[in-house]
Amino acid sequence: MKICICGKGGSGKSTIVTLLAADFKRSGKDVIVLDSDESNASLFWMLGFDRPPHPLMDLVGGKRAVQQKMIAGFTKNEDEPTMTIWEMEKLLSHEIPPDYVVENENCKLVMTGKIHQSLEGCACPMGAVTREFLKRFQLAPNEILVVDMEAGIEHFGRGVETAVDMVLCVVEPSLESISLAKKVMSLTTEAGAFFKGAILNKISSPEQKDVVTEKLGDLGVSAIGTIGYHSEIQSSCLDGSRLNAQATAAAEVADIASEILRHAVSIPK
Ligand SMILES: Nc1ncnc2c1ncn2[C@@H]1O[C@H](COP(=O)(O)OP(=O)(O)OP(=O)(O)O)[C@@H](O)[C@H]1O
Ligand SMILES: [Mg+2]
Repeated sequence: MKICICGKGGSGKSTIVTLLAADFKRSGKDVIVLDSDESNASLFWMLGFDRPPHPLMDLVGGKRAVQQKMIAGFTKNEDEPTMTIWEMEKLLSHEIPPDYVVENENCKLVMTGKIHQSLEGCACPMGAVTREFLKRFQLAPNEILVVDMEAGIEHFGRGVETAVDMVLCVVEPSLESISLAKKVMSLTTEAGAFFKGAILNKISSPEQKDVVTEKLGDLGVSAIGTIGYHSEIQSSCLDGSRLNAQATAAAEVADIASEILRHAVSIPK
């Protein structure tokens, strides 16, 4: 199963990807994490790696080459998802060239690429490479792939969600984050993927959980689990250290992970 973690900037996507990856590993899964956020660099150390992998963007010739292929395709009036920007037809995890993956304890991390320079052009090629990688990537029976998505909804414009099975939206206690979940739900359905629901994050009281759940419910979005506000998570992100969930957060994430895995077999795709 390929699952995608979306949400508003700063809502906790990378944190939840890291905690879910740890839980999936505990359940005996082989986890592949795809860092598709072109801006933030923190995911590799949150997961406990000492360096990030080489970007997949370089595996397909670099951003400029992908940009040119996209421009050529648009000029010929091709739809973006039909453009050939990745020659390889399929890819299994053991076929990813060693420089392009880092690995520890049943977890592999791959990364689309980051923006390094001003005036280097828009991020469209990043979304296209993410989508094409996801389309080609073939999971072994015990593998699960988790995408740490860039903030917001631009990736829907690139059709990234057409290549995943399940989408979840992280929601922090703010109206903006709640409204975005509704948008993510609609766009996921349009993309033909399965919207599993919202993961409430940074929730500081049972009353706050009720308010956020009710507001989401008013928009037709269901909450599949809640992670409280844990100062240890924030301290770990301030230190730049590996994110090890303390007991409460780990138990909260375990419930969400098992809910995700429970539905793995029944996804309509
Ligand atoms: N449950 C939590 N309790 C306390 N702090 C949290 C929690 N979840 C996330 N944070 C903090 O919120 C900040 C943003 O988290 P994170 O980087 O995971 O968000 P993000 O959605 O990936 O952000 P971006 O959109 O920038 O990629 C971090 O400082 C993190 O430590
Ligand atoms: Mg992030």
